[in-house]
Amino acid sequence: MDITAVSTSSTLPAAETAPLKVAVILGSNRDGRFGPVVADWFLARAAKHPGIATDLIDVAEADLPTAITFSPRPEEAARLGAVSARLAAADAFVVLTPEYNHSFPAPLKTLIDWHSAEWQAKPVAFVGYGGISGGLRAVEQLRQVFAELHAVTVRDTVSFHNAGALFDDEGRHLDPEPADAAAKTLLDQLVWWGTALRDARNLRPYGA
Ligand SMILES: Cc1cc2nc3c(=O)[nH]c(=O)nc-3n(C[C@H](O)[C@H](O)[C@H](O)COP(=O)(O)O)c2cc1C
Repeated sequence: MDITAVSTSSTLPAAETAPLKVAVILGSNRDGRFGPVVADWFLARAAKHPGIATDLIDVAEADLPTAITFSPRPEEAARLGAVSARLAAADAFVVLTPEYNHSFPAPLKTLIDWHSAEWQAKPVAFVGYGGISGGLRAVEQLRQVFAELHAVTVRDTVSFHNAGALFDDEGRHLDPEPADAAAKTLLDQLVWWGTALRDARNLRPYGA
């Protein structure tokens, strides 16, 4: 079944035809990290995909404290508030995650744990990268985390094995077609779920 066929009926309210707001979360903050190459690659694919508007949320810039508290210090509260508002505004998420020791990076978990309702009844797709694993173990663990948060994870992923060797110095993928096809599949599924769940939340607020 072609899931890219989306109704464009002019009778739909504007909120239901507006571009899907997709927060793209860059999950590593390591000095010298490879993540920005993956982020630039993905955002370029997303820019060509119809019906979405992206917002890049970088865990390095968010710089959230690891201690979850109801009374963060003022400068931390300001940073938290800014990132929380952007997550709340999103209709869907794409998490870009490397694999660290068969799991996902700690700052990504910190960003996830600081939030709750922001994730609920929204879809989450994954772009994993790493060494031999291609980030796949990190992605499978994240599916368990997001299930707890009432989010829906998208089946198909993009996975980059030995990621550093797949791109040239300008961040161009050396064998672009399979990767582009994987990104399109992921985005098609994300848009289907994101649109369906946005419509559903508008019709009936999610009560977790
Ligand atoms: C602490 C650490 C642990 C890692 N563990 C794994 C691993 O378990 N499996 C894997 O395939 N790659 C592993 N790698 C390789 C990273 O996934 C790879 O270097 C990736 O590019 C890191 O993303 P980043 O540069 O954006 O931080 C590890 C790297 C680091 C720094």
